[in-house]
Amino acid sequence: MRAEEKALISLFEEGGRGEPRPPDLPAKRKPLNQGLTLLSFQGDEALVSFPRPPRLGEALLLREGPRKLLLQVVWAKAEERGWVARAKVRGPWDGILPGWDAEIFPTSPPIPETPGPKIFLGRTLEGEEFSPGGRALEKVNVIVGAKGSGKSHLAKVILLGLIRAGAPCLVLDVNREYGGLPEVRTYSVGRNFKLGVREIGVEALSVMLEAFGTPATSLLYFETRLSKLFQEKKEFIGIDELISMAEEGEFYPTQSGYAADAVNRTLRSRLEALKLTGMVARSPLEASSFTGVWKEIREGGAVAFDLSGLSTPARMGFAQALLRFLFALVEEEEKVPFVFFEEAHLYVTPQGIDALVTRARHTGITSFFITNTPTALPEGVLRAADNLFVFRLPLEEDIKWVAKSGMIEESSLLALVQALPKYACLALGEATETYPVVLLPDPLLGVDTRGKTRYFFALPANEVQSS
Ligand SMILES: Nc1ncnc2c1ncn2[C@@H]1O[C@H](COP(=O)(O)OP(=O)(O)O)[C@@H](O)[C@H]1O
Ligand SMILES: [Mg+2]
Repeated sequence: MRAEEKALISLFEEGGRGEPRPPDLPAKRKPLNQGLTLLSFQGDEALVSFPRPPRLGEALLLREGPRKLLLQVVWAKAEERGWVARAKVRGPWDGILPGWDAEIFPTSPPIPETPGPKIFLGRTLEGEEFSPGGRALEKVNVIVGAKGSGKSHLAKVILLGLIRAGAPCLVLDVNREYGGLPEVRTYSVGRNFKLGVREIGVEALSVMLEAFGTPATSLLYFETRLSKLFQEKKEFIGIDELISMAEEGEFYPTQSGYAADAVNRTLRSRLEALKLTGMVARSPLEASSFTGVWKEIREGGAVAFDLSGLSTPARMGFAQALLRFLFALVEEEEKVPFVFFEEAHLYVTPQGIDALVTRARHTGITSFFITNTPTALPEGVLRAADNLFVFRLPLEEDIKWVAKSGMIEESSLLALVQALPKYACLALGEATETYPVVLLPDPLLGVDTRGKTRYFFALPANEVQSS
């Protein structure tokens, strides 16, 4: 028998009977600290030595008698023998510094039990399921990260989870990528989804006409006349009717004169531009409605509005019209939707975001703002966010902006975000309580998450097979 084998068997020996037996579990669990040693504790940070490479973001438990302190590795360095890591206190702390007999060992991140149906989002670095209760995902959520980092994928994971939980969901899709998901119906705005003038509303029409370059005075005349028209006429109003009104000089108090002419001519050309978006219906037959969409999803389900065919002004107008509908809806509805704003920075105005966020608690509307440009989000949104999902962000400036949420110190956020594995994000907020969890979103195997992105260059046949 070789020396190693002997040594191994002697490990399993019990009472000298020489019977090899597997070690029992408590014995195996005992050396929990896995060679970790507390080197020092300063401020709210511990310095810990590791016999193996520490992982940024991993959780440590410090135990001293009945006291327990949760820490998170936020910095590490390799030394001649072993590694040293800095870990920050997370969660409740009585402010008392631990003494020398404190034990420190790896643990799994504490995932709070939150009310509502469990929504499976993925796994932690340690491989545990991350399934916050639906309630934890309500109100204001922000998903940020560089292009291709996995933001939309996570949004789809959340969306599918919400649909399964029976929640009504709306998506503003700018990349035609939600159409392939099961149970998501897509409407292409400007093609098979058009709205009447009344349903779009004065504000949204104004937003679009302004973006098309309508001067402020002409806009004012337009708004005044249109508001009056809404009162005078109860029937359907189409885009052609507005154009005729401009042709007939109706948007100026007097119908002749240089000023009247200029205002009506300006409005006419901008209304033609509006017509070209395809978003405004010409007749009731052509018109869809938000109310109809709401009926489809009220008892659970999702509708995605494909905005890919619209210009930026048209997208802004559409978002504005939708917001107006939603704010009116919640006044009479008990159920309220979850709304996903893909690439929010492209078309939701800071005022629109503000309105959603500041009224979120009153309206109950849940928003997901998904963007690769966090600096385009007003600071107030970050501070009001209930959850933040931060993917890879190469620009330090962006990370610093996100840190304004106050959910985590800037230095830790910088370190943790830079060390994220592929497709992983840092989840912070209601769903994680005080611990920033490194989340690996569910890969959604077997689900078509790519939608209908069109490419000019085809893939070789073998790559099509494997992708
Ligand atoms: N967790 C994941 N598991 C598997 N594939 C993923 C995951 N996250 C992203 N991907 C894939 O990576 C690509 C880019 O992801 P996407 O979410 O669209 O990025 P972003 O919205 O941040 O630009 C997509 O093809 C997507 O399917
Ligand atoms: Mg995306």
